Amino acid sequence: MIECVNCSELRAAADAAITMATKSRASLCYVWLAFFLVSVLLQLLLHGVSADQETKTLGENFLGRKEATVVDNLIEDEPTNKSQRMKIFQHDPVAVGHIRKIEIEGQYYEMKTVALKPPIFVIPNFLSDEECDAIIDLSLEQGLEKSATQRKVYKKRMDADDVMAELFTETDVDGDGKLNMTEMAPFMLRYFEVELNYDELSFLLTETVVDLDSNKSLDPEEFSLIPGAEIYIRRLTRALKMRPLPTNILKKLRKGSDRKSCQTRLEHDLYDPEGMLRNRVAALTGIQKEIVYSSELLHVVQYNRSGHYHAHKDSQPLDNESVCKHSDHLYPNSSDGQPPKSRLCRFMTVLYYLTEPERGGQTAFPVADNETFTEEGIDHFYRIKHHDIYDLTNHCHDSNLVVEPRKGTAIMWYNHNLDDQNEWIGDINKFSLHGGCEVIKGEKWIANHWINIDDNYDMQMAYLADRIRNGSPPEDESTHRRPTNDTNVSSIDDARRSTCQLPQDWSNTASMTSHDEL
Ligand code: OGA
Ligand code: FE2
Repeated sequence: MIECVNCSELRAAADAAITMATKSRASLCYVWLAFFLVSVLLQLLLHGVSADQETKTLGENFLGRKEATVVDNLIEDEPTNKSQRMKIFQHDPVAVGHIRKIEIEGQYYEMKTVALKPPIFVIPNFLSDEECDAIIDLSLEQGLEKSATQRKVYKKRMDADDVMAELFTETDVDGDGKLNMTEMAPFMLRYFEVELNYDELSFLLTETVVDLDSNKSLDPEEFSLIPGAEIYIRRLTRALKMRPLPTNILKKLRKGSDRKSCQTRLEHDLYDPEGMLRNRVAALTGIQKEIVYSSELLHVVQYNRSGHYHAHKDSQPLDNESVCKHSDHLYPNSSDGQPPKSRLCRFMTVLYYLTEPERGGQTAFPVADNETFTEEGIDHFYRIKHHDIYDLTNHCHDSNLVVEPRKGTAIMWYNHNLDDQNEWIGDINKFSLHGGCEVIKGEKWIANHWINIDDNYDMQMAYLADRIRNGSPPEDESTHRRPTNDTNVSSIDDARRSTCQLPQDWSNTASMTSHDEL
């Protein structure tokens, strides 16, 4: 033990040393703390404050303007000197159920991922009630027309009615006013050249919606449906003789015409004079405003009860034999003076629900997020699930994804993949197959806001430049009807009554028509 000579001095010196040490340790701590805080702040500044917040840089636009940056989909301008080539942005869907909060012009929206393949998002309240109502009113004022498939079918049915009444009497051998399967068998042999047994015949007449009440007997009204169902019957009779059903036939076997609805196209400046909706779409999609502004007119669709649109794709596969429809006027005619063959080039669909039908009217994506989608895959579907995936009047709820219509909600999806190499539009995404399920009660209105991009980069640039010089897009006259005097529309209420009223018995029509309106 050490002897204490001058204990009080030593103790005082020791106390002073301890205080100093404590103080300097404390100040060292402060230095470390400050250093730590600064580095955390730096990290936050560099990587963003939230894990959910995403930053994506978009390419410079073709006018050489500033590059846009999306921070949680909020478009901001930011100087850049990156590549001059325009690039297309595609949202990362992240995961089903993922919700992004988006701020556009001070308004907050939630964008929920509902599928990854293709990326599909649902955005509630993207449109206000007033915006929805205004689009409907403008469409009614302008006038809607039946989709082409329906008109063809209806005319055919009118012509055939008299003939069918005569044929019924001829076929009703026992004169009881009904046709049983024994009476129908010789009729089928004579007019369809097919010999069917009792089971095949009753299956055929039920499947084609001729035998409406499935009671294996036809009354005159049911019998008169046969001409409308003729192509359907022919295909099914052929298919009945081949098992399993071949894909190409199966594809066509679905009840009702492909599309039963009324439609019109609205000039962008008519429903969106200030460009507010188009700016919102540009901010939501991250697609350059020039592209959004130069895309085709708004396509408004009205479905009444039993209205539907069987599964289809909104765009078409890339191919070297045809050019994009939206920019086809810029392509030269072929050597024999013919205009080039065209196809639809719709990179994205932003679909707005303008009303909320009481029942039905969902939008279905039969194969979204399915493992595979091949032509054989459809066959597989049929064999395993035993239904036609295109048939959305009967098999809406067999689809992998079914979205409920809610007024003001937008659904947004990619019809094409992105070509990774040049960040430009790539080939069609087959999983984007979708359609409108049957409206069971009420009325359904939707609008399609399609984003057109030519897969030929230079032609899209030429198209944009042309549009900037010459204004609105050239549109197909047949699909764009302007208000005419003959519609005799004095008010919106009159229009509501006078436009596109479907015949009562429309829902009984079974026909086979190709998609003439994608
Ligand atoms: C369309 C379409 C779906 C729906 O009009 O192209 O796919 O739910 N509509 O109406
Ligand atoms: Fe569609």
